[in-house]
Amino acid sequence: MNHRPDFKTTSHSSGIQCESNADINFQQALANAKQFSPIRYAATPKLRLSELSLISSFDYQNLLFTHSGGTALSKAGQVLKLDSNTILVPSYHCPAAIEPFIWLGFKCIFYRVNADLSPDKNHVHQLINQHDISHCLTINYFGVICHLPLIADILSSTNIIIIHDCAHALFDLLSYTKVHNEADATICSINKILPSIDGGIVTFKSSVPRPLQPVGFVEESKAILYLLGITSIINKLRFAFKKRTEPINGALDNTKATSLCYFNSSKAEQQCFSHTIAILRRSNLNKIAQRRRENYRYLCSALKNSGLGTLLKPQLDQHNVPYVLPFLLHDKSHFSKVRQTGIQCLRWEEIAQTDCNVSQDYRSRLLQLPCHHQLSKQELDAMIKQLKDIL
Ligand SMILES: Cc1ncc(COP(=O)(O)O)c(C=O)c1O
Repeated sequence: MNHRPDFKTTSHSSGIQCESNADINFQQALANAKQFSPIRYAATPKLRLSELSLISSFDYQNLLFTHSGGTALSKAGQVLKLDSNTILVPSYHCPAAIEPFIWLGFKCIFYRVNADLSPDKNHVHQLINQHDISHCLTINYFGVICHLPLIADILSSTNIIIIHDCAHALFDLLSYTKVHNEADATICSINKILPSIDGGIVTFKSSVPRPLQPVGFVEESKAILYLLGITSIINKLRFAFKKRTEPINGALDNTKATSLCYFNSSKAEQQCFSHTIAILRRSNLNKIAQRRRENYRYLCSALKNSGLGTLLKPQLDQHNVPYVLPFLLHDKSHFSKVRQTGIQCLRWEEIAQTDCNVSQDYRSRLLQLPCHHQLSKQELDAMIKQLKDIL
């Protein structure tokens, strides 16, 4: 994958062993993160205590905090589960968005996407006519590409339950930007945007589940030490801590999930760390949103005529707060050159094999470039120069 390629090297080697999804085959990673140069421009921000305020900046009623975006999806599926569950999922995805439903025993059917990552309307209609669809997953890609209103419109004459994956779009979930409420459940991932170790959120249109189990004091303390970079202590603790948080194969208690690479069912009923919630509450979300938007725009204006590739979303909509900048390479072989510059660009390599040509093409060509709020103008300029120098 994708969001943490430098921490996780596990790749899918076989189809998922779940009866109704036996034909799903997540593909092998294309590149090995261990062979990349050290990261100079990270995809996500680091914890800086000076960026946290003493005053909480928002009220978090009706939000259910989960261990991760993945377990937020599993909670959404669990709460909205029916007697028979078949979910439409986008062909362009990362396995972490699909595995929670496989684990829950949903049958997953992939709908094709267009070049702008919108759902292929005809294909969605066709699938609805062919199958008894109960749910539909939509993904907000990178915090900037969202087709929830279109999906809601396509499904408007059905009773299909919509689950909206805003793993990349924390701000959309917080309704901070006051957007769409067509979904029955919306989830996000906290540590894609904020400097936390873990964290996910799920909200429901018409119910508020009880809070999940908090993390114990010892684990919480270890995590805080880890996050603060207290290395002398961490060096002793790292092994024990990593052992617990690093999933996955073999550590699962559910036999259906034995070949899931990203979903950790042992965390399904667990809340994120309390300090993750504190980071969320004490972050200056206004400023973070503004800086991310500025950085995205700055990179867009520098890359708009790049010979290396094209911008998938050159203009931000009013409410978009980017997680990363989607950049479509002209030549897929340039991916490794980009990584050698130290830019932690991500790519969804392990998508399931489907007949969606766009997704299969984007698997090797669509990069996610960092644009987070801590990147300075000097760093952006250095990144831009590195990209220019590739050609
Ligand atoms: C679209 C999408 N959904 C869900 C997830 C899962 O989020 P998390 O890593 O917080 O479990 C990811 C993460 O890779 C993702 O990219």
